[in-house]
Amino acid sequence: MRTDTQHPVTRLAAYSPPAWLVERVSLTFSLKAEATRVASEIVFVPNPARADGDHPLELDGEQLTLMAAWIDGQDVTPDITATGLTVQNVPQGGFTWTAEVEINPAANTALEGLYMSNAMYCTQCEAEGFRKITYYPDRPDVMAPFTVRIEGDLPVMLSNGNPTAQGDGWAEWHDPWPKPAYLFALVAGELVSVDDTFTTMSGRKVDLKIYVRPGDEGKCAYAMDALKRSMRWDETEYGREYDLDLFMIVAVDDFNMGAMENKGLNIFNSRYVLATPDTATDLDFERIEAIIAHEYFHNWTGNRITCRDWFQLCLKEGLTVFRDQRFTGDMRSEPVKRIDDVKMLRARQFREDSGPLAHPVRPAEYVEINNFYTATVYEKGAELIRMLWLMVGPQGYRRGTDLYFERHDGQACTIEDWLKVFEDACDIDLSQFALWYAQAGTPRVDVAEAWEDGRYTLTFTQTVPDTPGQTDKKPVPIPMAYGLLDKTGAEVAQGLHVLTQPQESLSFDLAERPVPSLLRGFSAPVTLARDVSAAEQAFLLAHDSDPFNRWEAGRAMMLEALTSDRDNAALGAGLQAVLTDETLDPAFRALTLTLPSEEEIAAHVAGRGQVVDPSAIHDRRAVVEHTIATALGDALPAVYAAMRVDGPYSPDGAAPGQRALRARLLAYLTRLDRQAVEAKAMFDTANNMTETMAALALLVSAGQAQDALAAFETKWATDALVMDKWFTVQAVATPPAQAVATVKTLTQHAAFNWKNPNRFRAVIGAFAVANPAGFHRADGSGYTLLADWLLTLDPVNPQTTARVAGAFETWRRLDRARQALIGPELERIASAPTLSRDMTEIIGRIRA
Ligand code: ARG
Ligand code: ZN
Repeated sequence: MRTDTQHPVTRLAAYSPPAWLVERVSLTFSLKAEATRVASEIVFVPNPARADGDHPLELDGEQLTLMAAWIDGQDVTPDITATGLTVQNVPQGGFTWTAEVEINPAANTALEGLYMSNAMYCTQCEAEGFRKITYYPDRPDVMAPFTVRIEGDLPVMLSNGNPTAQGDGWAEWHDPWPKPAYLFALVAGELVSVDDTFTTMSGRKVDLKIYVRPGDEGKCAYAMDALKRSMRWDETEYGREYDLDLFMIVAVDDFNMGAMENKGLNIFNSRYVLATPDTATDLDFERIEAIIAHEYFHNWTGNRITCRDWFQLCLKEGLTVFRDQRFTGDMRSEPVKRIDDVKMLRARQFREDSGPLAHPVRPAEYVEINNFYTATVYEKGAELIRMLWLMVGPQGYRRGTDLYFERHDGQACTIEDWLKVFEDACDIDLSQFALWYAQAGTPRVDVAEAWEDGRYTLTFTQTVPDTPGQTDKKPVPIPMAYGLLDKTGAEVAQGLHVLTQPQESLSFDLAERPVPSLLRGFSAPVTLARDVSAAEQAFLLAHDSDPFNRWEAGRAMMLEALTSDRDNAALGAGLQAVLTDETLDPAFRALTLTLPSEEEIAAHVAGRGQVVDPSAIHDRRAVVEHTIATALGDALPAVYAAMRVDGPYSPDGAAPGQRALRARLLAYLTRLDRQAVEAKAMFDTANNMTETMAALALLVSAGQAQDALAAFETKWATDALVMDKWFTVQAVATPPAQAVATVKTLTQHAAFNWKNPNRFRAVIGAFAVANPAGFHRADGSGYTLLADWLLTLDPVNPQTTARVAGAFETWRRLDRARQALIGPELERIASAPTLSRDMTEIIGRIRA
């Protein structure tokens, strides 16, 4: 990793506790778009853990103008640098720091700290944004109660905790729960609220408020309902009750991430709050539900118990993702949710883990922590919790989490603290399990079988691949859920075995040779390598009682069809059987009938050590989809018709699954009909955004979308979130030959404001990650287009730029010709004169 002095490296091994703790902090904001004043009064006390001599006062601060500062009322003149200040010879027994700074929210385009979004003031402080608001020890292991006064000419002025007083032009807030600065939030603007209440399990009434811009009040009902269900679920599943009298959510249009769990005042990207059947798809509703839950669940896993340092990010994120996954599984379908999660894990995390940006779930070093809000920390982090849950069982897991909350409430913790509660509550040794947090790379498990004299033996061999900076890895504990099926599909054995050795075997005495179903439910985030015949895959697709592996068998057959010449007559027959099996959930049938994405196919090809050709993958996928459509025969139009949902739209219950299956079948039908008659019919008659978008995407890929795109644009021109869909569908579904030209045209569109992260991602981000054949066009025009836009956005918003730059992470698996086109683009980016710290690190790692 680069160690230039301009962008220093922070290391886990260099952690030391803070010299000063904060007993309490008061902040007064005088809001002005270009010159906000922030007055602070911070009571510092010495940290007993650092009684190792005299300590100066060192505070973080960036882009602040210090107007004045006092210590215990005496004027001081600190030494100021670009990243903070130091005061020598402070009273070692403790003191009060008072200061006033000036900041410029209107000029803050990075959307970190205090900034403006459509004339509204808002904040994003995680991970290190508070230092752009005032001088402070901006690290999560410094926790304090906050008192906030906001002065300004705005109708709504919010901060964390409970409102304590307000008058004309001012409001005061107090948050009694000690918190790190990254959980601070302030919002002020012309907002209206949608209100509700929730009665907690101990009978306390909590006011719930969702704040939106006037006119958006009608789009909050689903988010509010999801919030109440989340609050109840955390009580029943984890025994966790909400701890303030008020819980607020604010929808903001300019936001780098999905949402933020600020104490009592969650701030959301508006796309994850606002929804009506007309404007949002089934998937949007599901994501809103999941993100509302995720941020709410952080109140205990993140806020009441936080992270000691940013290396421990997975402590709150992996755990909270696991919690929201289970919540969605309970609200909807558990197997469908698991399949969706694994698809996402493979597409995003396995991709990351096998390329230049691979890093452990708990990284050992970083240059810019914002670059580590990754699929590895979040999604692989959640898989680690899930493995632990499988290993100790649901009751052991609950004992462990109960102990975690009891032992660590109010603390800033580490992964070691987390593992220790399970060792104590469940009497297990997790020292080997801890390797999962330290070793990057997706473990591979090779499986061999033997059958002799009534004895069936499975032999597992695990290896963890090398990743940047890491070789010679140790075996990790791998929970292997399995079942053995006899000829009729009946289960003759099943269980969970935790593999701990480089190689180990499992034997069974059986009357006949079984068919194994391994890694059921995807019980560990590994790659399973085993030679399976087409007949066996077809058998599992038809008979496995584990829905995940049933889906997996179909997927494996599809991957074979997509990447080899194997005769796949069995695939068509197997899929037809799934399609017409009315005992199966339509949502599950839709997933099983979905071909692996181009990214999944590319990963599969790369995993076999072959060169990836995105154009060939795209073309082959179209051919196989056509073949399957033909093989489905008459069942295709019949089930398509049967899945029609009549009556008013509902985002819950069975309807989304029926719509998903219908949309999947429409894709097959459209493969067979170049005129896309059914897709046009669905577009014209749809009464909800789910069907509209399903049809529109197919029309765009079929080159039949001119009228539909125009009609859509006319209807939705003034709704930015809906226009994002219009942008994305074209960036993603336009055939490769026209994709670059289309994206260029989209960037000229009046509604394309590239400084807004949602717009930038809707066009540039979507094109670069979700239209692989367009992005990887052999003439390199996709690469130049992306590099140009990254260089444009970087000075304005480094965080969003660096995330989208991840599109280049797979470049080493491509053919030489494409690598020779990407190399110079990466070089051009790297040599930009004022490249951000975020981009310097990401591009440096991608090129390494
Ligand atoms: N803690 C937030 C969440 O997972 C993510 C915020 C990340 N923000 C950032 N600038 N890195 O819900
Ligand atoms: Zn989170």
